[in-house]
Amino acid sequence: MKIIITAGPTREYLDPVRFLSNPSTGKMGFALASEAVKRGHKVVLVAGPVTLKTPAKVNRVDVTSAREMLEAVKSEIIKAKVKTEGAKPKTVVLISTAAVADWRPAKCAKKKLKKGEISSILKLVRNPDILKTINRNRSTFGYQPLDLKLVGFAAETNNVLKEAKRKCREKGLSFIVANDVSEKGSGFGTDTNRVTLVFPNGLLKNFPLMTKRRVAIEILKELEK
Ligand code: PMT
Repeated sequence: MKIIITAGPTREYLDPVRFLSNPSTGKMGFALASEAVKRGHKVVLVAGPVTLKTPAKVNRVDVTSAREMLEAVKSEIIKAKVKTEGAKPKTVVLISTAAVADWRPAKCAKKKLKKGEISSILKLVRNPDILKTINRNRSTFGYQPLDLKLVGFAAETNNVLKEAKRKCREKGLSFIVANDVSEKGSGFGTDTNRVTLVFPNGLLKNFPLMTKRRVAIEILKELEK
């Protein structure tokens, strides 16, 4: 399978030295990339600004903002489509572990803003939702004849499963990996994670606290079924 993995945070710049972002380190996405390659998949890792080393044999595309991440993902799907034309439908999976900023400053100033200017200038606008955009455009962008599967992560602090189920439905996912990012050892920056796989039919698969590598293996095993 071709597996496209998004990882890390996005940065949404307000001026050349300030941005909106979040604490994602990319560890979950990089663990997935490294395990997927070991299992024989062709992996493209679309990474936001992180300091991790690229795993061997992984093709990495670096991006900064949510809009750049969306363009990189689209381009990787289209490349797979072109190579597939006329052949048997190829399975392409997008696993979205990235913590994509939902909002960005309406404008990015060319020069560093003065402290006093920031509050009067800071107006936020919505970023595109990458998973929703890809799902909505399965036919309009002509992603066929690909067999395109989408997998998301749900970073929650309350009503974890209810929110995960909603996101799974709204984003057209094969399943979503729910993690409670307020729980010790789970979520941002840790080497471990405790996840539940949530399926569109309501099925749940619970896992104990495990290393992110182990979580990655369980996700890949699910996709390989
Ligand atoms: O990178 P680490 O430090 O290892 O941390 C891992 C993690 C906590 C970032 C990871 O486990 C995780 O939970 N990733 C999802 C973070 C997130 O943005 O969750 P969300 O519930 O806000 O979004 C739901 C899904 O929609 C996610 O798959 C997200 O990538 C996607 N999304 C969100 C916003 C947006 N504009 N476009 C998207 O595609």
